[in-house]
Amino acid sequence: MNPKNSQKVALVTGSSKGIGQAIAKRLAKEGYFVYVTYHENEKGGKLTLDEIKQNGGEGDVWKLDVSDEKSVVKIMDLIMNKFGHLDVLVNNACRDISKSMEESSLEEWKLAFDTKVHGAWLCTKHAISLLQKSKNPNVIIISSNADERPDKEILSYAVATGALNTFFKAVSVHLASEYGIRVNAVMPGQVRTDNWGELRNDDKLWGKFAEDNPLKRVAKVEDIADAVPILINDPHRFLNGNMFFVNGGGHLT
Ligand SMILES: NC(=O)c1ccc[n+]([C@@H]2O[C@H](COP(=O)([O-])OP(=O)(O)OC[C@H]3O[C@@H](n4cnc5c(N)ncnc54)[C@H](OP(=O)(O)O)[C@@H]3O)[C@@H](O)[C@H]2O)c1
Repeated sequence: MNPKNSQKVALVTGSSKGIGQAIAKRLAKEGYFVYVTYHENEKGGKLTLDEIKQNGGEGDVWKLDVSDEKSVVKIMDLIMNKFGHLDVLVNNACRDISKSMEESSLEEWKLAFDTKVHGAWLCTKHAISLLQKSKNPNVIIISSNADERPDKEILSYAVATGALNTFFKAVSVHLASEYGIRVNAVMPGQVRTDNWGELRNDDKLWGKFAEDNPLKRVAKVEDIADAVPILINDPHRFLNGNMFFVNGGGHLT
């Protein structure tokens, strides 16, 4: 068999830090050649790849703006030319500004939509032909239930998450029925990453999140990363359209 075709390949958007970085490292441990991507933080992207290689994994690092179609097409072309297929696409990238409606500009409001919604749409759309060539094609969408009780301070994030969850429901049916591609969403609870801006440093807030959680802690990035192989390695390959909560049961409180 051509080694190019037997190599498992994954693309993780926004893997220069946080949850995406942990997922990239986890998939490399599973034997995937991982396309690590950064948007602004080149150093972080290279660090992710270095850590993958130090642990015996394989991958490459590229700049990717998920909201720019040319940038998305470029990375898909790279993968097509090197491997001819993609096994796992993880739509993880996100940028948003935590501000109320009164404080936000239109540009700030659009950030979460550009990355979460338009980004997931663009990456999924342009990955379909590559995923179709995989023996076990999977799309993972990193989302949340932030849309259920939308907080006014994270309004754009919450509304974009609602749109992303609707997109997820639609594509998990569409891609499975048309192409046999499974699509599952991983729903983290609060994870202490840069996504929280200044609130990342608020020990009191993180103490409260842990106290309110049924398991009395908040999620680590590794908790979220470990959920991804569970979904893609499903021995029966029947897991599709699941919103897989990785939050200690926090969504039920
Ligand atoms: N943290 C939480 O509590 C939490 C909870 C539920 C769901 N989530 C979701 O989990 C995902 C990851 O969150 P995180 O907390 O790990 O965030 P993070 O630490 O802020 O990381 C965000 C990543 O997205 C990348 N990114 C930003 N804009 C981009 C663009 N236009 N194109 C491509 N990549 C871009 C960043 O790249 P650069 O830094 O290189 O620019 C970075 O790698 C997000 O979708 C988030 O909504 C997070």
